[in-house]
Formats: sequence, structure tokens, C-alpha cells
Amino acid sequence: MRKEVVLITGANGEIGHGLITHLGQQGNVNIVALDVSPLDESLKPYCNRFILGDILDTMLLGRLVVEFEIHTIYHLASLLSTKAEYNPETAHRVNVEGTLNLLRLAVEQSQWQGRSVKFLYPSSIAAYGLPNLEVKERVGKVKENEWCNPNTMYGCNKLYVEQLGRYYAAHYRQLAADHDKNTIDFRALRFPGLISAVTIPTGGTSDYAPEMLHAAAENVPYACFVRPDTRLPFMVMPDAIKALLDLEEVPRERLTQYVYNVTSFSLTALEIYDIVKAAFPRSTITFSPHQSRQNIVDSWPADVDDTSARQDWNWSPEYDQQHAFADYLIPAIRKRY
Ligand code: SER
Repeated sequence: MRKEVVLITGANGEIGHGLITHLGQQGNVNIVALDVSPLDESLKPYCNRFILGDILDTMLLGRLVVEFEIHTIYHLASLLSTKAEYNPETAHRVNVEGTLNLLRLAVEQSQWQGRSVKFLYPSSIAAYGLPNLEVKERVGKVKENEWCNPNTMYGCNKLYVEQLGRYYAAHYRQLAADHDKNTIDFRALRFPGLISAVTIPTGGTSDYAPEMLHAAAENVPYACFVRPDTRLPFMVMPDAIKALLDLEEVPRERLTQYVYNVTSFSLTALEIYDIVKAAFPRSTITFSPHQSRQNIVDSWPADVDDTSARQDWNWSPEYDQQHAFADYLIPAIRKRY
């Protein structure tokens, strides 16, 4: 008999850390973790198996089918928005072709199991693209179907994968007689910028917020790469994990869409600076905008409308802005350094 497991790709990334720690501490699922870089020692005890490998390696994914019965996939592996701009074609391969391989794996699994396989996918505010700051200010909160004209390769990849997910869930092999038997239960979240107290992001463009906070706590000077008035929505990692798990749990019939915005608070870089400065008064933080990265952040919405998530599956973040900084980020980061 094959072992029933949950597959987590991008296991060693920021969301992977949060998710594996949470699921591992709960202890009621078997975790198979996959990443291109070695798994942190702290995560190993929570995983039944760690596989060092690439989601573009179809042989490796094929071997997973032999060994495991995968009922849920958290497909977290991705090249983030800044990194993706350094090699857009490689990003496309990882973010789109890699996901296609995982969708294919999910189809195969669902056929073996005679039931649908859940496919949880973190999309992003990067799926949006606002034409200029005047529009960004005027529109405020954006809904899932508005302003989907991303300016980054990463954003294009996220938006397209959302469509692929919908296709695989609803229309895959639609001309085949048995096309609707065993499908993929695709569920995506458009996350805002995520801030964790335990890990530091690599290669994103919302990274200035967590970087500022961690640098201040560590007492190393930090030059913020966006203007002080730059506004983005954010969420702390425990709420991102909560959103993923809440969405995973909800019965399919309650979901009216495949892709949901979720968010917690919206802040300018200056507001983050003020909070960080108050907590770490000796820190040295300056503003030194990097024009190209600034343009990317300027094209992302100042806030998102998560009404659908609230209505369909009772989404609500546990941490508002005050609670996030005062009770999670600042104490945990202070302890870390
Ligand atoms: N945080 C991500 C990035 O900056 C957005 O999804 O790339």
C-alpha cells in the first residue's frame, strides 16, 4: 500500500517553513517535502520524507506516484518577482512549466484514487498591474477580476497558473468521454506581501518590509529600496498559513471562485519605518529608492478587497496591524537576534 501524504513543494521557502511547522506540530498528516535546496534542520522532524530536487524533473515527480498516495498538494515552489526579472525565461519554466508538472501529477493521483486531489496554490498581488500612481491611489482596494495586467514575469506566471488551475479543475480533457470523473480541486489565494518573524524573504519586491524589520532588530543599517509613501497590503505569516489551511478545509460547494484575495493591513513604507523605529530606536534606516523595483511596487495595488473570501469561507485574519507588530513580529524578531 502506498502511504497517504500531503506534498509540499518549495518546502524550504518562507511559506514552507510556516506551513510545515504548523502541520508538523499538529501531527495529523504525513508530509512529503520537496525543494531544490536542502531542508532546514528545524523542519526535518516534521517531514516523513524530504526530497532534494527540481519540480522540472518529471522523472522525480513520476517516482512520487509510485511511492505515495498524495491527497493534497501545497505547491509553494516559485521564483519571486525580483529574481524572476533577472531571468524571465527561467522564471517561466519554474513558475509555469513546473506547475504544469505538478498539475499533471495531481491528475494522475486523482485517477488512481478515484477522487479529486486538492491543489493549494499561493498566487499574489503581483497578478495585478495598475498603470500609474494616480490610478493606484484612486482605486484603493481591488477585486479579483480587476486590473489583472501584471508588469512582471512573476505576475504573468501567477495569473496564468490561476487560469491553468481553473482549466484543470473544470475543463481538463473536455472532449474525452471520462473527462469529468476525477478532477483537481484547485484553490488559489492571492497573498499580499508576507512578513515572517522566523525567516527572511529572498527575491521578492515586497521584501523591504520584512528586511527593514529584521535589519533593525539585528542592528545593521538598512536602505529601503522604495519611497516612503509607497503603499502595499501585508499579512503576517501565521495568517498566511491560517488562510491556506482554512481554504483547504472548506467544502468545495461553498466556494464560488477558484481564486481569492486575502489580506490583513495596508501600510506605507514610512508607516513601517515609524513602527520599526519606535521598537528599535537605535536602528539606522534610510530611503534609497531603486527605480525599477519601485515601478514594480507602484504597479501593485495599495490594498485588496477580500470580501469573497470572507463571505464564502469566513476568512478573517487573526492579526490586525497593531496585534501583528506588537504581539507577533517585534517580540519574536527581538528574541531572534
Ligand atoms: N512577495 C512577493 C514578491 O515580492 C509577491 O508575491 O515577489
